[in-house]
Amino acid sequence: MTVGTSALIEQTADANRGGRPTHVAIIMDGNGRWARSRGLPRTEGHRRGVQTVRDIIRHAGQRGIGYLTLFSFSSENWSRPAEEVHDLLMLLRMFIRKDLADLHRAGIRVRVIGERRSLPADIAALIAEAETMTAGNDRMTLVVAFNYGSRGEIAEAVRSLAAEVAAGRLDAGSIDEKTVARHLMTAGIPDPDLIIRTSGEQRLSNFLLWQAAYSEFAFVPTLWPDFKPEDFDRVLDDFRARDRRFGGLSAKAGA
Ligand code: IPE
Ligand code: IPE
Ligand code: MG
Repeated sequence: MTVGTSALIEQTADANRGGRPTHVAIIMDGNGRWARSRGLPRTEGHRRGVQTVRDIIRHAGQRGIGYLTLFSFSSENWSRPAEEVHDLLMLLRMFIRKDLADLHRAGIRVRVIGERRSLPADIAALIAEAETMTAGNDRMTLVVAFNYGSRGEIAEAVRSLAAEVAAGRLDAGSIDEKTVARHLMTAGIPDPDLIIRTSGEQRLSNFLLWQAAYSEFAFVPTLWPDFKPEDFDRVLDDFRARDRRFGGLSAKAGA
């Protein structure tokens, strides 16, 4: 109990820097509906969504966000028609090829979370290149969740912990919340202070289940291709007014 509490406090210690979130995670949803409402193919919505990605990365950097996580492809998205999956993989390729140099120049570190073994080899290589090239950058960390699913991530952590115990390298009784967190794909990344989902849906869709224990949520009706830096600022303003208690008593009321 004590261990868990201290781990939580550590993970969220600098979370509320003047009401500014350290880590913002976004479930970028609504590309398909954006396209359909205009009589366009879904791919066009995804293409426009990439432009929003560029705008929001730049803006988050300007707002001093330390970590920006973008959910771009879930482990469940493989169940979409093959053509759409193909287009989404193509867009990731194009994004890394076209934008990596700009991100690097802007001092952004890129990290990708998600299962890589089942990705085409050229994409895995592009991801590795992006991470290696930007490893020394510290202006902002961009975490791209691609082929990511939180239950799969937790199952993988359990598998690797079990293997360490079986090999005699880890005492099962010593496993605490920090040990688990270190075995997740997000190891070393603070928990998200704020999770935004666009398009009006109000669910996590298997995103950061462990990490979201004390996240604030913002569900906005705007479809992702229409989401603007001003919308991001509005969510930040709303976040600033929230009272995060982490199970304790209100810091504001006590003041
Ligand atoms: C989000 O938009 C992008 C991905 C999930 C890859 P959607 O494609 O889910 O758009 P909607 O929800 O169908 O409108
Ligand atoms: C979640 O959106 C995944 C991404 C944004 C990449 P989905 O559109 O796949 O989620 P559901 O199916 O509506 O829950
Ligand atoms: Mg969707």
